[in-house]
Amino acid sequence: MVQIFNDVRYLSAAQLDQLGLTMAQIIDILEAAFRAKAEGKVMMPPKIFFHRNGPRFYSSMVSASPALGYAGCKWQSGDPANPAQDLPYIQGLYILTEDASGQMRAIMDAEWITGRRTAAASGLVVKYQARADAETLGILGCGLQGRRHLEAINAVRPDITHCVCYDIQPDRQRKFIDEMSGAFGFQVEGGATAEAVTRAADVLITGGPIESDRNPKILPDWIKPGALVVTIDYDSYVTDAAIQAMDLVLTDDEGQIADARLHEGKFPGVTRVDATVADLVTSRTGRRTSEAQRILTFNLGIALEDLATAIEILGRAEAQDIGTMLPVRNAAAG
Ligand SMILES: NC(=O)c1ccc[n+]([C@@H]2O[C@H](COP(=O)([O-])OP(=O)(O)OC[C@H]3O[C@@H](n4cnc5c(N)ncnc54)[C@H](O)[C@@H]3O)[C@@H](O)[C@H]2O)c1
Repeated sequence: MVQIFNDVRYLSAAQLDQLGLTMAQIIDILEAAFRAKAEGKVMMPPKIFFHRNGPRFYSSMVSASPALGYAGCKWQSGDPANPAQDLPYIQGLYILTEDASGQMRAIMDAEWITGRRTAAASGLVVKYQARADAETLGILGCGLQGRRHLEAINAVRPDITHCVCYDIQPDRQRKFIDEMSGAFGFQVEGGATAEAVTRAADVLITGGPIESDRNPKILPDWIKPGALVVTIDYDSYVTDAAIQAMDLVLTDDEGQIADARLHEGKFPGVTRVDATVADLVTSRTGRRTSEAQRILTFNLGIALEDLATAIEILGRAEAQDIGTMLPVRNAAAG
């Protein structure tokens, strides 16, 4: 007999905070999820992403895994103009569905999940691909993701304690330095330009805006020998020449690169992908083989990361009885 759920559990960001889910735990959850992906246990059609006459974008990301027992969908909007109005750049909700019965089991704040799982996915790549003697983390874009990335990098490489950051808006860069100096063991300083930060970085995270008109800046010779570059802003910051100069090019999902190229005109300079993050965690394919290699990973952000995190969230929320129950069905009618 199928268990009937008459309510769906709603979890606000404040309620998600109460669950005690740490960045280190999310990195482990994602690693397991990428293993499931490698084993073909995840269905994940390409995300729907489109701009609305300008920088505002909408996106919808769905995935299902009978093996994990759930399916889910994230609906979000993003607009780089939002922070000036005290709104987050990306806003959204996630719906989690029980796979066996198709029942909606939870609705939760997706900004919370996106903020953490994105940085956790970068942390996972850093764990495998950063040079053993890496010292300096470079952050381009001193916003939410910049902050979360300090936490994620610290979770996998607590020995990396020097951060150089750059934001196109000097006040945001200053605020980042003030807020993050000392956080997660980091000594944080500002770079004068994106070039200065890139040249200093052993691990570089690019988190500028994803815009319809691409205007990439990073040239091949800005990237140090042995550096790892993780982009979370598609190919917005890296030039085609830089992409092609890399020794290894990876992505969290090749299908989404192809889809973004076809539908959004992104990634024209990606002429080869050497491996995926799923390869990285399950085999030696795509892993660093020399300290001099320059490695680029396009972490587009995939629906599986949201699904795996949301499943863990629901389990914890049920166990701790956290959340607001919303009626979705008339209990008497069944
Ligand atoms: N790949 C993923 O899974 C994923 C998930 C979430 C967000 N993102 C992307 O990450 C990026 C950052 O998101 P966020 O939530 O931190 O946004 P945010 O608005 O909190 O921060 C972005 C910061 O970048 C700065 N900025 C803008 N242009 C810049 C430039 N050219 N150089 C340096 N800094 C610049 C802004 O002033 C702002 O401070 C966005 O592109 C977003 O779409 C990717």
